[in-house]
Amino acid sequence: MSKKPVRVAVTGAAGQIGYALLFRIASGEMLGKDQPVILQLLEIPDEKAQKALKGVMMELDDCAFPLLAGMEAHGDAMTAFKDTDYALLVGARPRGPGMERKDLLAANAQIFTAQGKALDKVASRNVKVLVVGNPANTNAYIAMKSAPSLPRENFTAMLRLDHNRAASQIAAKTGKPVSSIEKLAVWGNHSPTMYADYRFATIDGKSVKEMINDDVWNKDTFLPTVGKRGAAIIEARGLSSAASAANAAIDHMRDWALGTNGKWVTMGIPSNGEYGIPKDVMFGYPVTTENGKYKIVEGLPIDAFSQERINLTLKELQEEQDGVKHLL
Ligand code: NAD
Ligand code: LMR
Repeated sequence: MSKKPVRVAVTGAAGQIGYALLFRIASGEMLGKDQPVILQLLEIPDEKAQKALKGVMMELDDCAFPLLAGMEAHGDAMTAFKDTDYALLVGARPRGPGMERKDLLAANAQIFTAQGKALDKVASRNVKVLVVGNPANTNAYIAMKSAPSLPRENFTAMLRLDHNRAASQIAAKTGKPVSSIEKLAVWGNHSPTMYADYRFATIDGKSVKEMINDDVWNKDTFLPTVGKRGAAIIEARGLSSAASAANAAIDHMRDWALGTNGKWVTMGIPSNGEYGIPKDVMFGYPVTTENGKYKIVEGLPIDAFSQERINLTLKELQEEQDGVKHLL
């Protein structure tokens, strides 16, 4: 094992997503089977949460993962984020039945102000930050704005679960393997306003839009199914998605760190004005990644229907941003 270990901070480490995530990071599924990791785990200082975290760490120990080079439990972001190279900000309240994710802003926003400030002070200057806690886009925006000394592009929000959900629906509709789908995009907010867009998607070089050839299915079945999948899972499980969310977080970080080889993936990232989205809005875009950097797929034609959907999700994000102005 010749590579130097990297530091991976995970918040909400004793929660349900944490439980589905940590073992996969420690086994090398996120950063590669040759990359040792040191886990810096953050939970609220509450005795019960810290005790549960100790239990998770006992289980991590018991896996004897060869790549797990160290593990720490923290109750304070200032120590948990010290020198961290990766930060997965999961810890936040999940929604229950009948709630929208933006209803969580009041409860969760200040977590991301405090954690953004802590990252600003103590994390590696190259830290790659993924916000999973909802509402993910606006929480990532808050963290970015609270960390002025770190590059803006280090902050991202998770739309990969939406991307994966869209791919899975298309695979079911076309009867083709999910792995054969290329050039899928999800624009905007991780909320029912997100716009999952298969206009450019291909399977074995053939247009998915032409294969499906059903705009009514797109509008009345595909978009609502993908957009409301989180709520459907809460309704069925009584709890919000956890294993699929952890899987999406692994996909997001792996692709960001190790590259996509030209393949499109969706990441929530701060806009620089691309596709008319105002600067800094944390927006889902199709990207490719290489050498630890992402690049927006530019120059895609936006038709009237798509523009309407993009405007809608942008409006919601701007309203969310307005609602947290006082924290920034
Ligand atoms: P959970 O309640 O099971 O776990 C959350 C954990 O975070 C708890 O253990 C809690 O003690 C901890 N926590 C709370 N505040 C914290 C803080 N300030 N610092 C550190 N830890 C803190 O919830 P979960 O199911 O793991 O979900 C976590 C978040 O992820 C929720 O907001 C949920 O809505 C969101 N989520 C996002 C996506 C996405 O696609 N972006 C998908 C699924 C879930
Ligand atoms: C999801 O999409 O499954 C998560 O954001 C959880 C939720 O509240 O829907």
